[in-house]
Amino acid sequence: MSTERIEEFLAAVKTAFVANTLVKLKLGGYHGAEPDLKSIDVKKIVVKGGDKFSFTFHYKTRDIIKNQIQPEAMGNLRIALKDEFRSAQLSTTEFDMSFERNGDKVRIKRTEVEGRTAVSTEHNRAKNRPLAETNKPYLYALGITGKDGVVRNDAQDKFRQINKMVEIFAPLIQAISSEKPRIVDMGAGKGYLDFALYDYLSTTGKAAEVIGVEMRDGLVNDGNATASASGFDGLSFVPGTIIDYDASGADAVIALHACDTATDDAIFKGITAGASLIAVAPCCHKQIRRQMEAGKPATQLDVLLRHGIFLERQAEMVTDTLRALLLELNGYKTKVFEFVSDAHTPKNNLIVAEKDARAGRDREAVLKQIEDVKAMFGIERHYLEGLLGL
Ligand SMILES: C[S@@+](CC[C@H](N)C(=O)[O-])C[C@H]1O[C@@H](n2cnc3c(N)ncnc32)[C@H](O)[C@@H]1O
Repeated sequence: MSTERIEEFLAAVKTAFVANTLVKLKLGGYHGAEPDLKSIDVKKIVVKGGDKFSFTFHYKTRDIIKNQIQPEAMGNLRIALKDEFRSAQLSTTEFDMSFERNGDKVRIKRTEVEGRTAVSTEHNRAKNRPLAETNKPYLYALGITGKDGVVRNDAQDKFRQINKMVEIFAPLIQAISSEKPRIVDMGAGKGYLDFALYDYLSTTGKAAEVIGVEMRDGLVNDGNATASASGFDGLSFVPGTIIDYDASGADAVIALHACDTATDDAIFKGITAGASLIAVAPCCHKQIRRQMEAGKPATQLDVLLRHGIFLERQAEMVTDTLRALLLELNGYKTKVFEFVSDAHTPKNNLIVAEKDARAGRDREAVLKQIEDVKAMFGIERHYLEGLLGL
């Protein structure tokens, strides 16, 4: 009976998850309705809110990561195995189990293994942080440490976040082929990311030039004074707006929580500079929300958008989906994932776009996806489309 086999496989996944023996689960042979979905990798992570399944959805030109609690994940895996994926491979520290479905027939095969160790599930590792040395003038100037160079109790969360950002951005920057990449951080604020990234990269052998663009002069002056006191010659802050900044020569353009359409200005600057990497953590999504509100009668989605909080979340997803598509259209492979725990901020999605010759080759198909999303939500025009002259 195929149902029994599916339940047997799911029980093995659940046991491995609970017993911390899960190494990896891979689903392949996708034949469901989602265009361009190829496979899914599943692992266990431990985050502040508890243990979760972390799903990486591999699409033709991008990856999307979603973390789910156990009951929700098991329900989705059941649907996936029953209707959408023909094969699955479970690896645990004790055995491998393969799953093959052909129509209604399901075969599973278990093979014992020896000597395999469990992978680390710690999402927020307390030890081995990238910024191991904390007695630094910039950490004191930013209020992270006291005069003694020890991280202040009330800054522990911020320090964890900064380390997390370095963990995410450093490998992306290290993958850029330029010998000394130029990183431009749009809407840099106090420059937490810029100081930490500059410090980390220069001490790990891939020096970078880091420039923070910020419209508040006071922050720019403070940032430059601290950079100079720290001897960080390649780190500077420049005053002005994102849209007026000449980003030519930038290898990476980053914008973390730049407000509303300032994120689009940053993406536009990255695209026109031909940056290898564009990474943005969007903030508020007013531009599209306003159009969705106005366009509501034109859609069939009134019932889903009736409550303000759902409209807000939907606006966020639609805005960022369109951003990802517009990046793809311009030759970038995109990934979207949560970059800090939602305990810190609900605005925790990061869009990472890397230049990839294969991305957006089927221009007509991507343009159609953009038009379909806009039509579905009653959207006239995404601000970024205007910048790109579409
Ligand atoms: C929410 S803060 C984030 C700061 C920093 N990126 C971080 O994550 O800590 C947004 C910053 O972007 C700046 N900003 C917003 N729009 C901007 C624009 N169009 N041009 C330049 N700076 C901008 C604001 O002044 C503010 O300092």
